[in-house]
Amino acid sequence: MLVLGIESSCDETAAAVVLDGKKPLSNVIASQHEIHAPYGGIVPELASRRHVENIPVVIREALRVADVELGQIDVFAVTRGPGLVGALLVGLSTAKALAWSEGKPLVAVNHLHGHAVAAELDNDEQNYPRLCLLVSGGHTSIYSVDSPVSMEALASTRDDAAGEAFDKVAKMLGLGYPGGPALEKAAEKGDEYKIPFPVPNVKGRPLDFSFSGLKTAVRNLLHKRPAPKAEDVAASFQKTVTEILRAKMLAAAKQFGLKEIVVAGGVASNRYLRNGLQKAADEAGCNIFFPEPVFCTDNAAMIASAGFFLYKENPDDVRFRDFLALDAVANLPL
Ligand code: KG4
Ligand code: ZN
Repeated sequence: MLVLGIESSCDETAAAVVLDGKKPLSNVIASQHEIHAPYGGIVPELASRRHVENIPVVIREALRVADVELGQIDVFAVTRGPGLVGALLVGLSTAKALAWSEGKPLVAVNHLHGHAVAAELDNDEQNYPRLCLLVSGGHTSIYSVDSPVSMEALASTRDDAAGEAFDKVAKMLGLGYPGGPALEKAAEKGDEYKIPFPVPNVKGRPLDFSFSGLKTAVRNLLHKRPAPKAEDVAASFQKTVTEILRAKMLAAAKQFGLKEIVVAGGVASNRYLRNGLQKAADEAGCNIFFPEPVFCTDNAAMIASAGFFLYKENPDDVRFRDFLALDAVANLPL
């Protein structure tokens, strides 16, 4: 079954053709980083406008690379939320128009479900039940996952998401935008043992995350004189975030008796983090899987994959045919 996925929840306009939920035939991503960089963050209105410009081009390219005609697509899948509502509406309206004109089903996908399912792409292992650590710019959560269509939240962040903390700290350090990759690069030249940042504890909810204290610790540190080297702050911060994620991931795996782990979301493309979590999982006797970095950051292949599994679960679901009134939801819960 061929699924065309469309993703436009944030600052990436993306389309992908995926075969049977597992094999990406194309994965086209138009990033908008350069238009938001001067503002140090995403400007929603600019994002929506750029999505409108990019989306036809990106979809045509996804079909061309996959060597598939629009008429061969069996199911359309699109991100419905969470995300910037104006940005989401561009992808959703386009997907509705395509599915309606082709007379094919349309599956609305939760962006977070997409991230979690990204571990299915180019991966033949059937490692369920499993734990999913999802670390993105908007969310940081742990899920217990029984199948590609069934997941339950075990823990989440009390304040900032891990990616958000990377972005804010990178901004404070003047490393540019987008912050995550810039901080990872700066950290390579720093001493990760230079600054002993505290590892927070969330009272009463030991699996939950908190990153705002760490962010404040960095801000306070930058007011000190002499100012520490940006590279040392970056390396020490990255080490602390990895330590926080490592501790919660292992505690949750132990508590819920799960030996299979996948890590997903934009922050999971960080090499230092991947190495740290791989080592921790090895030591704990857990099997850990990281999607390819291009499937960790926002993409449409993960949306197509999630759409495939949702459709396969219940192909007669009337919502897949009766989709014209579907609305985008900025804070769509999973
Ligand atoms: O999953 P994603 O692409 O979009 C959301 O759904 O949020 O995640 C984006 C986040 C951003 O905060 C970005 O800075 C972070 O992922 N990120 C990274 C790296 N690449 C992206 N953080 C740390 N290291 C990276 N290499
Ligand atoms: Zn995302």
